[in-house]
Amino acid sequence: MKIYLAPMEGITNFIFRRVYLRHFRGIDTSYTPFIVANQTFSFKTGEKREVMPFTDNTVPQILSNNPDSFVWAAKYMKELGYTEVNLNLGCPSPTVSGRGRGAGMLKDLEKLDAFLDKVFSAEGLPSVSVKTRVGVEDPAEVNAITEIYKKYPFDKIIVHPRLLKDLYKGSVRKDCFRVFYENFESDKLVFNGDINTAQDAMKIAEEFPGIDGIMTGRGLLADPLLPEKIKAAVSDDTISEDVLQTSVSKDASARILAFLDDLWDEYAAYLSGDADVLSKMKELWSYLYRSFDDGESILKAVRKARTRQDYIIGARHFVL
Ligand SMILES: Cc1cc2nc3c(=O)[nH]c(=O)nc-3n(C[C@H](O)[C@H](O)[C@H](O)COP(=O)(O)O)c2cc1C
Repeated sequence: MKIYLAPMEGITNFIFRRVYLRHFRGIDTSYTPFIVANQTFSFKTGEKREVMPFTDNTVPQILSNNPDSFVWAAKYMKELGYTEVNLNLGCPSPTVSGRGRGAGMLKDLEKLDAFLDKVFSAEGLPSVSVKTRVGVEDPAEVNAITEIYKKYPFDKIIVHPRLLKDLYKGSVRKDCFRVFYENFESDKLVFNGDINTAQDAMKIAEEFPGIDGIMTGRGLLADPLLPEKIKAAVSDDTISEDVLQTSVSKDASARILAFLDDLWDEYAAYLSGDADVLSKMKELWSYLYRSFDDGESILKAVRKARTRQDYIIGARHFVL
């Protein structure tokens, strides 16, 4: 079973991905946060940095509701060397979905069908995958959505089984994922959402045998060793205690600390001062703290930090 790093705008950017992959194993492919393909046929500098230079095992994710712009962007990515591009049909943020992009494209299925028809009729594209929610308001919408997707040769269908209106709250709707499971070859499907432990991943593998993989975002931010633990759990019948424990061991803490130090240095080289780097680290800690027994107090210290020195003292005390 493959493990994919979820796109997370503002977090899993090119710096995060590069440093993360240097320190931890288990991720097969990383998806970039969404890159907007607009009608000017140009990308912003920050977006170009997500895909340039070409990096192996990375898939650019494109956000667009205009088929010509999407086709332009997909060809651009192909020229850079990418063999797959991913269409964002999942973003629930009002600034995105309210303008009929991301999960907002699920509101008008006729328009979505016309969009996909144009995209899949274009010549010379890399393969196209999709990351999708299962509806807007009502779980029954999943039936019409799968009927549309069935018409097109998606390379992969990554399903975050929540509705647009769910945002990131409530339980994932496994019954909606099952509709996909019943309608597509299982090895085209990727399950995304609330996979926070190796057990969660094993449960998905058991419930949906043969799926291509799982994608993890917040779970990996909370426990950077999660993909290693999942790989160990799915390939081994005798699972060690270490794999099953949800809080991190001393050894794992030291690895996480080395990763964070490296991440600080790489952010410092790109951002314009400690305050900007600190705000990135604080965002990351808002997920990471959950894996530590004294996480709340670490988070408090990190949030209070105003300088690198304060931050180091706050973040380090968990391994001392
Ligand atoms: C801060 C944040 C940014 C996100 N940015 C993106 C994005 O750029 N593209 C996308 O498809 N999904 C995005 N997502 C959704 C995640 O990729 C993922 O689907 C969601 O977090 C559920 O998976 P998880 O429970 O493993 O985190 C974002 C989620 C969060 C919380």
